Amino acid sequence: VTQAPLKEATWSFEGPFGHFDQEQLQRGYKVYHDVCSACHSMNLMSYRNLGQLGGPFYDPKWPNPNDNLKVKAIAKDFNVPDIDGDTGDVIKRPATPADTFVKPFPNEAAARASNGGALPPDLSLIAKAREDGPRYIYSLLTGYVPAPAGLRVPAGKYYNPYMPGDLGSFWSGKGEAPKGGFIAMPLQLTDDRVTYDDGVKATADQEAKDVVAFLMWASEPHADERKQTGYAVMIFLFLFAGLVYASYRKLWKDID
Ligand code: HEM
Repeated sequence: VTQAPLKEATWSFEGPFGHFDQEQLQRGYKVYHDVCSACHSMNLMSYRNLGQLGGPFYDPKWPNPNDNLKVKAIAKDFNVPDIDGDTGDVIKRPATPADTFVKPFPNEAAARASNGGALPPDLSLIAKAREDGPRYIYSLLTGYVPAPAGLRVPAGKYYNPYMPGDLGSFWSGKGEAPKGGFIAMPLQLTDDRVTYDDGVKATADQEAKDVVAFLMWASEPHADERKQTGYAVMIFLFLFAGLVYASYRKLWKDID
């Protein structure tokens, strides 16, 4: 299996003191909503997660995300099946913050049927599930290039140098087969594929970085809090070590 070396990119959430940039998370959610959600579910997410502490639409005005007006507005644009309490009929009602993200396909068979047999993976944990997740997904999304001459690309597949694969048996060119693999997902992100609300220019590169930040947050929504706790613990341990040392000096002062 080969793969081109991943592209370099940096995000605010990296490193021990990193934290998610809320505006970037909002833009990333927009990319997921406008583009990726046509094929990819995020079954571990509920709309209210978007408004929880550290989330894209957290607002101290509404500490309880179920009350967050922005989140309510996002949710109610989706329809979810439910049972009418009076008649027992199956109905559709607007989603509330308590509902899980609406998925694009009812089941795997339907998802495959719409994607030439391939299954778009659930994106809830994808940033953790793939090695070097953020850089990998960023490279993959921005890395589509025309297939080199001599590479036979199967119908419904696209060449991507960052998709792990083995192209040996599809290669009739000179030398080694190109690095990378075939992917059933076509190019998604192009300049101005989405329109951002905060005036940031929606280049394909920016869209990819933003959606990666959103996917990383979704896969570990409490990362910021965890890092802050770690920081406080380190400060405490440092002070405590000083205190222990001082009392050791004092207790043993007169003993030789
Ligand atoms: C696979 C991300 C939009 C269809 C994937 C993978 C990722 C991903 C990370 C996994 C690649 C791997 O296996 O390592 C995204 C993101 C999107 C997006 C972030 C939005 C920006 C879409 C859309 C479609 C789609 C709109 C349908 C038109 C697929 C399919 C696969 C896939 C069919 C499976 C590919 C295969 O196994 O060959 N996507 N995707 N994706 N995606 Fe997307």
